[in-house]
Amino acid sequence: MTAARVLALGLLTAGSLAAQQPRSPSPTDRLIDALVARMTLEEKLGQLNLPSVDTRPSPQQLDLVRQGLVGGFLNLTGAAAARAAQHVAVTESRLHIPLLLGYDVIHGYRTIFPIPLAEAAAWDPAAAESTAHVAAREAAAAGVNWTFAPMVDIARDPRWGRIAEGSGEDSYLGSVLAAARVRGFQGSDLRATDAVLATAKHFAAYGAAEGGRDYNTVDLSERTLREIYLPPFRAAVDAGVGSIMTSFNEIAGVPSTANRWLVTTLLRGEWKYSGLVVSDWTAIAELQAHGVAGSRAEAGRLALAAGVDMDMTSGIYLDDLPALVRSGRIPVASVDRAVRRILRAKATLGLFDDPYHGASVEREAAVLLAAEHRALARRVAREAIVLLKNDGNLLPLAESAARHTIAVIGPLADDPGAALGAWLGHGDPRDVVTVLAGIRERAGAGVELRYAKGAGILDTSTAGFGDAVALARQAAVAVVVVGEAADMSGEAGSRSTLGLPGVQQQLLEAVQGTGTPVVLVLMSGRPLAVPWAAEHVSAILEAWALGVETGHAVADVLFGDVSPSGKLPVSVPRTVGQVPIYYNHKNTGRPPSQDKYTSKYIDVPSSPLFPFGYGLSYTTFGYSDLRLSAPRITPAETLRVTVTVTNTGPRSGTEVAQLYVRDEVASVTRPVRALAGFRRVALAPGEAQRVEFALTPRELGCYGPDLRFVVEPGRFRVFVGGSSAEGLEQKFEVTVAPRP
Ligand code: BGC
Repeated sequence: MTAARVLALGLLTAGSLAAQQPRSPSPTDRLIDALVARMTLEEKLGQLNLPSVDTRPSPQQLDLVRQGLVGGFLNLTGAAAARAAQHVAVTESRLHIPLLLGYDVIHGYRTIFPIPLAEAAAWDPAAAESTAHVAAREAAAAGVNWTFAPMVDIARDPRWGRIAEGSGEDSYLGSVLAAARVRGFQGSDLRATDAVLATAKHFAAYGAAEGGRDYNTVDLSERTLREIYLPPFRAAVDAGVGSIMTSFNEIAGVPSTANRWLVTTLLRGEWKYSGLVVSDWTAIAELQAHGVAGSRAEAGRLALAAGVDMDMTSGIYLDDLPALVRSGRIPVASVDRAVRRILRAKATLGLFDDPYHGASVEREAAVLLAAEHRALARRVAREAIVLLKNDGNLLPLAESAARHTIAVIGPLADDPGAALGAWLGHGDPRDVVTVLAGIRERAGAGVELRYAKGAGILDTSTAGFGDAVALARQAAVAVVVVGEAADMSGEAGSRSTLGLPGVQQQLLEAVQGTGTPVVLVLMSGRPLAVPWAAEHVSAILEAWALGVETGHAVADVLFGDVSPSGKLPVSVPRTVGQVPIYYNHKNTGRPPSQDKYTSKYIDVPSSPLFPFGYGLSYTTFGYSDLRLSAPRITPAETLRVTVTVTNTGPRSGTEVAQLYVRDEVASVTRPVRALAGFRRVALAPGEAQRVEFALTPRELGCYGPDLRFVVEPGRFRVFVGGSSAEGLEQKFEVTVAPRP
């Protein structure tokens, strides 16, 4: 038995806990009561204090731990360091309370998976659950017990760099993936040594920043908040997420970190969320810059009053709240409430029993980058690739007579950092198979493979074009790999344009100018507006940032070992001027048409370059026989929708069948389409499968004029197909009258 366990059990006994006697309150409640009763005010506020370490805690920080003035650290990783800090907490602090150890495990810890936006393109919740689980397994082995993921912000503006970290523009897809990732991180029992506490962030509407500029002002209606931005958080809460992080932004004048309505009335009251709420990095101090607090103390008072339990790196709760509590400006009861939530999270993780949560140097060495983790990374990376164009079936290369000399061109082709993407955890560029390496490995000895960078990502010089063009001329096919560096998306990675950075567009045009067929491989943390490429280049793959197995996955697809099956989780604009452009828009009173006085631009089509849900395959799929279980249902009923999906092409493939719904007339305006279900269907050539969806009140309802959720009687339409811009249609009615 560890010393910590002895001490923890000793404390339980000291709290006169009779663990064997089942009675209410629970043993955990009694442990927490016992601790809170013994804590000084400083120790209580210490639990609310979440500083960051610079790889390791400083001697001063360890002293704070000894004094009971730290509730947890972020960025303290590595089994040895984590164990050492926990050891200090549980053996040298007065109350032996273990630490929460938080880290941004966003798309993997060491085995880096596709960025979340890319993973969303797989439309595969089981895969998202698996990658989160593996990420948790690795992180926990390395001492982390809390991840600041999943990021569940809806992003309708691809200028916003953090679109890379989430699931794209749609609330339904975002909700399904949010729940899957929470399940993956937390498992069924947080005490398990391969589980970590998950955090749904950033609460809320961070993705609605004006102009897509990070940290910027948000102003939106409660309706849009509830319909679009909140559902993934609700899904995370319903999946049992243990923590929620408030966002940096304001909504309609109230910064989230000071928003009592958001954090307490809605989250805890309406949604019955009982986990902990943590601020974002220095967000409590930033209430001063927002202009709602005149001092640090006031900022702390506002945040605590709003319901924010833990102070990430402002140090305000610890430094400034004691005086406010002592003077009676903050009731000690509100401090106690926050302390209890943090202690409860620690208890739920089993930290009072095993403060190390199974972390050990041996386990860390065995688990990180395990072969099966890499295998999963490859599988999910393949699924995340979206085939945007494939004129004349240029792809797959294996079927093209032309594959005997391949020119690989472009700054991203051999860039392991870009493949890892934003938020790379402990990802190591040396672990990455780049696109060039993947193609080289797959092409084998019989193929002459040549590489030219052409230009750097942000270069302004075209000096390297000559080599690239010469190479392309000699080759049967040119694979041009261009896009964004890792730091061009993610936090503080907003862009005002959506094209290829630097001279990459010119590079692409120069290579295309040789007449050699071009396969364009885009790597980016956001959808890129590439109208020229969409018009001129024969084949386009969106390959995002796919993690350590990027090159293998891209080669698997290029050579046809798998058929691409990814579908866009976000609309691709033709130009930045169309932004925000999203498929589930409202109809307006003047939907775009040939008439002049309709809602459109005069200089660009109304449609996106590629619509939400779109993605090609090496085979084709047909939809037929769309049927509804009834022509009429009551508001409480569920409608079953069935359709036959057939592989009508020559190869095996997987289709993501999508169900959309439209409420044709309601008391408030409704989107022209809203995703309401999807299914991945793997089919051999000629094979057909009947696919069934359920439309429940949740998908059919809306927030009425009084903002209450209701299924309103009236006409509805459903669409089932392979993207948001196509599909078979059927109508049905919701009626209050009993069925005939
Ligand atoms: C980000 C969060 C992140 C936190 C801790 C902040 O800057 O907004 O998403 O979890 O840092 O690293």
